[in-house]
Amino acid sequence: MPEEMKRNIVLMGAPGSGKGTQGAILSEKLGIKAFSMGDILRNVATGETKEAKKVKALIDKGNMVPDKLAIRLMEQELFKPENQKGFILDGFPRELSQAKALDKALNSRKYAKLHMDIDLVLLLQVPDDYVIERIIGRYQCAKCKSLYHEKYKHPQVFGICDECGGKEFTRRADDTYETVVSRLRTFRRVTAPVIPYYEMKGLLVCVDGTGPIDVVSEKIRKIVGY
Ligand code: AP5
Ligand code: MG
Repeated sequence: MPEEMKRNIVLMGAPGSGKGTQGAILSEKLGIKAFSMGDILRNVATGETKEAKKVKALIDKGNMVPDKLAIRLMEQELFKPENQKGFILDGFPRELSQAKALDKALNSRKYAKLHMDIDLVLLLQVPDDYVIERIIGRYQCAKCKSLYHEKYKHPQVFGICDECGGKEFTRRADDTYETVVSRLRTFRRVTAPVIPYYEMKGLLVCVDGTGPIDVVSEKIRKIVGY
């Protein structure tokens, strides 16, 4: 790995801005795991516990889960020994309180010695009408969760997932027009204040996320330096 390459990366952006898509590309190129808080929560939501049912009800409507839960899940994943060579965070932090909790954890006595400080925060910028079209056309492999789009990203062989060969595809319960509009509102109200927090720390780089997937990933490649 070149010395100047960024390894600890936070991906920010509105719903549908391409965090999951670009996170998967970065993960493959860098050999580092991408954590999607949304995927982690959707996994929790498949359970039968009271907490699982509560999470499902919240995320299906596009509402944020309680901070405490998101922070606990992030800490459980991030500090596993196999993840200490770097991380790509997608969908976390999504509130100022979460950004502060992440800094606190990274600098805590327990984890500071791991030197996992954030190197880069990428903000994918995409206008609302684009993200609505992207989300309404999104589907994913039921087995490995790889992302596709009716117009912009088909599997190479019709009906077969490129990544795992799966033949079943699903759509997310929160990918309706009404829910997307509400998620966009939440992004502006709750998540946008995290942007100046990272800007002040000199970590934020904005990326125009409107072009085709490979054009956006090429811009990111140059910023990350791989
Ligand atoms: P989450 O799953 O993170 O949803 P989101 O932030 O709304 O983002 P999306 O996953 O919808 O979009 P994306 O940016 O990943 O875009 P994608 O790459 O798929 O969170 C879900 C819910 O969980 C939240 O609403 C909340 O309830 C809860 N939650 C999550 N984190 C939380 C936290 N920290 N605290 C509390 N609650 C939390 O791309 C979209 C589509 O477009 C795909 O089909 C893709 O193929 C296509 N596409 C991507 N890039 C391009 C391109 N350049 N050109 C054309 N098409 C493209
Ligand atoms: Mg996503």
